[in-house]
Amino acid sequence: MTRENLEGTPRLIRALRGETVGPPPVWLMRQAGRYLPEYREVRRRVGGFVELCLTPELAAEVTIQPLRRYPLDAAILFSDILIVPYGLGQKLEFREGEGPVLERVASRADLARLDLGGLVERVAPVFETVRRVRAALPAGAALIGFAGSPWTVASYMVEGGGSRDFAVAKRFAYGDEAGFAALIERLVEATVAYLSRQVEAGAQALQLFDSWAGALAEPAFRRWVIAPTRTIVDRVRAAHPDIPIIGFPRGAGLMTETYAEETGVDAVALDTTIPLDAARALQRRRTVQGNLDPQLLVIGGEPLQRGAQAILEALARGPFVFNLGHGIVPETPPDHVGALVEQVRGWAG
Ligand code: CP3
Repeated sequence: MTRENLEGTPRLIRALRGETVGPPPVWLMRQAGRYLPEYREVRRRVGGFVELCLTPELAAEVTIQPLRRYPLDAAILFSDILIVPYGLGQKLEFREGEGPVLERVASRADLARLDLGGLVERVAPVFETVRRVRAALPAGAALIGFAGSPWTVASYMVEGGGSRDFAVAKRFAYGDEAGFAALIERLVEATVAYLSRQVEAGAQALQLFDSWAGALAEPAFRRWVIAPTRTIVDRVRAAHPDIPIIGFPRGAGLMTETYAEETGVDAVALDTTIPLDAARALQRRRTVQGNLDPQLLVIGGEPLQRGAQAILEALARGPFVFNLGHGIVPETPPDHVGALVEQVRGWAG
């Protein structure tokens, strides 16, 4: 008998497969991280953030930390979307107050440097983290693996870090379409390998983060967001037919439904700007996840309670996973997270 049969299918997995689970399962993007004092304590013990992601003992510890405090339905692997470029051989550093800094992929000529063959070995500690977390998971909780989607990851690689307008990445994409397609193609290959290994190590669901999907106009959105995501979903499913996949096309707005239909993801994660009526319409065809404003978690009290209640009333009578519309911010008081999780778990419809 498999472990899942023995313990019962986790609530998160049932919801991702289309069941209405009451009260709905809940986890929160960036539930591990700087808002938790116990995270900051572990973070101080290592030199850099990349080192933390690649030290299985510590990465597993910080993955589990939020589940010790709150009755969450899932742990999300502690790593970063930029571990894939690191695994392809790109230099990566996280600087205090500055965010990620990468060695730039400035043009087609730089693609030759990306070492697909070396990826799995360079990021092997991540798979060991997955094994350790799966073994340490509280009963009933599921483990989510993840990767960034090719467009979002490519934007960091080409810009050499974060960007506000993606001017450099867009000039590459529009100015040398074949060259940019070759970069996206390599990221598709890398992401399929990376996610498949996470599943083999014990991840029970996957989320694809396309944080900058909203930066692209429709033709580019179809080409650089939908098409590569579809290929990743198809290829991961060919190897692992039962793995539920959540897609998070942040900022996609009116393209969200097209994204959900055409990529074939099991569930679509919604950012804070998606109206609840639109979320309900999407929910007729698949599970939705979201979409509380993370700033309400900073405020707490009545505004937080009302915001969460509105989402529960609109969405919890269908296939739904409660989450935020983006990640928890470092200023969040941990008690507010506790109050929110209690409210969701106590929802009686
Ligand atoms: O708890 C979890 O959600 C799991 C871990 C996780 C992290 N990053 C940890 C992290 C996940 C799933 C991510 C995804 C990620 N990383 C995204 C997609 C989601 C989103 O937020 O849009 C993106 C765009 C990144 C890239 C990234 N990583 C940036 C821009 C930064 C710097 C900004 C910041 O918040 O510091 C990071 C660093 C990072 N990733 C931290 C954590 C906990 C903070 C670094 C530290 O602790 O020093």
